[in-house]
Amino acid sequence: MEKSAEHIVVNDKVIMLKMDKGLDSEEHKHFGACGGNITAFNGTLISPNYPHYYPPNTNCVWRIMVPDPNFQFRIQFPTLKLEGVQPDCEKDWISVNGIRYCGEHDRTVVVPSASSTLTVKFHTDASVSSVGFRAEYSSFNPAGECQGMHTCGDGRCELMSNKCDGWVHCKDRSDELNCVCTSDQFRCQNNMCKPLIWVCDGVDDCEDMSDEANCDCAAGFFACHRNSCMPISALCDGNIDCPHGMDEADCEKIDVNCTTNTYKCADGKCIVKPNAECDKVQDCLDLSDELDCDCGNQLAIRRRIVNGNDAVIGEWPWQVSLHFATLGHTCGATLINNWWLLSASHCFQNAESYRYSDRQLWTVYIGMHSLTFTDSGIERRLIKRMIIHEQFDNITMDYDIALLELSAPVRYTSYIQPVCLPSPLHVFPANQRCYVTGWGLLQEGGRLPVILQKGEVRIINQTTCNNFMGNILTSRMLCAGYLTGEVDACEGDSGGPLVCEELSGKWFQAGIVSWGQGCGRYGHPGVYTRITKFREWIHRNIGIDGNT
Ligand code: ARG
Repeated sequence: MEKSAEHIVVNDKVIMLKMDKGLDSEEHKHFGACGGNITAFNGTLISPNYPHYYPPNTNCVWRIMVPDPNFQFRIQFPTLKLEGVQPDCEKDWISVNGIRYCGEHDRTVVVPSASSTLTVKFHTDASVSSVGFRAEYSSFNPAGECQGMHTCGDGRCELMSNKCDGWVHCKDRSDELNCVCTSDQFRCQNNMCKPLIWVCDGVDDCEDMSDEANCDCAAGFFACHRNSCMPISALCDGNIDCPHGMDEADCEKIDVNCTTNTYKCADGKCIVKPNAECDKVQDCLDLSDELDCDCGNQLAIRRRIVNGNDAVIGEWPWQVSLHFATLGHTCGATLINNWWLLSASHCFQNAESYRYSDRQLWTVYIGMHSLTFTDSGIERRLIKRMIIHEQFDNITMDYDIALLELSAPVRYTSYIQPVCLPSPLHVFPANQRCYVTGWGLLQEGGRLPVILQKGEVRIINQTTCNNFMGNILTSRMLCAGYLTGEVDACEGDSGGPLVCEELSGKWFQAGIVSWGQGCGRYGHPGVYTRITKFREWIHRNIGIDGNT
């Protein structure tokens, strides 16, 4: 093992030491320097080199004081992965006011404290390294408990503006309990309050289905609040017909009757029922919402297999593997009809010595499960035409979408099925559970799998994600995953799908794997191309007319 001021060598691997800028810069010049004296109400600590492996033989001491002695600290570890076994922690450990913590924890470790000072020590031995820790400390006034803020069961303080807003902030949900619902909120059976526009949107926001009960109305009618169906003509007619006036809300949009909470039929009329396409209920008077619905079906599997990351044969029958020249699997794609695939533009940008833009160098495999070609029913095709979005920007990754026309059409089987494309007004609400699938790296810098992988991720609110990512997202992008990292797509998954199941059991593609900073890193969820922005572009390019 070699050691120097700038880097260390662990198991023949050079690890650059990057220290937290917030700490004493003089100390950073020395290997292993970390810690310091901090006076603050709250803040964050990370192990040296985080989120990469921490160096060996390190000892850090942070002494943290709260500026107001009436306050006390709490500290918790969203990430804690250290060598060693609790409670002895004789290898690597972190201690808070003398009590040691170590080992690998999947959940946030909350450390209670009743003191206005925190002494945090970090010790590592000469052997095995790991990811380390990320700690968040915050202070509270035990007399005024969270002073003007809401106190969650675990002691965390949440902004009052987060209370009763329909979004759960406290782990114990206490910020959403005992609420008096406002006029633009719906009262769930369990007494939680949710925004009215979430009612009858196909997502069980109340978690007791009360916001999704009695939502079916006959064609030409819309679900007015919940229990009553109103004729579409009552929408935006200047009279309030529904209990909460939702029939007259959002009426100033471009097309009076079409809002974000509606579905637009082929005749241009809108019905107040989001995601009405292919939901097995005829809603439009022209019946257009149930046309072209041979998509999104998992024919080969009877029941969902939730455990494990290996996909089951036939579970994602629209998943396609794109092989480049002699490199093998390089990108993913999805089957959208017999002739066409959807993928990401960035997969087809030339790089160094590879001419990825040359359609003739690619081979398409449909109905694939294992990259070993051991399954029967795999269809091989070449690419006849490649359409890269004319506004694709390879710096910002905006418009990261491409269409590929197959050399010959494929016939659908139990293992080959197209995915449903959402209408432009389709909503994939924040927190919805969706799946990303692909043959990409199993982890950042890791190896490629042989079997198709699936990962359950959640749709992340655009504003929240953009704030997290420093405002670099465009409206053509969508975040999914977890702000804390964990499940994510990775290199090689690009071009593949983010799919969500609707109540009808059909799968709709919400996104195309586009980019991310590393894979599964804290604060860096996966970024996907937002398909709802492109249905018109897709239809125009593959020659389907449609005004939906
Ligand atoms: N650009 C990558 C690819 O070409 C996909 C990156 C997705 N990364 C992520 N962390 N979600 O395969």
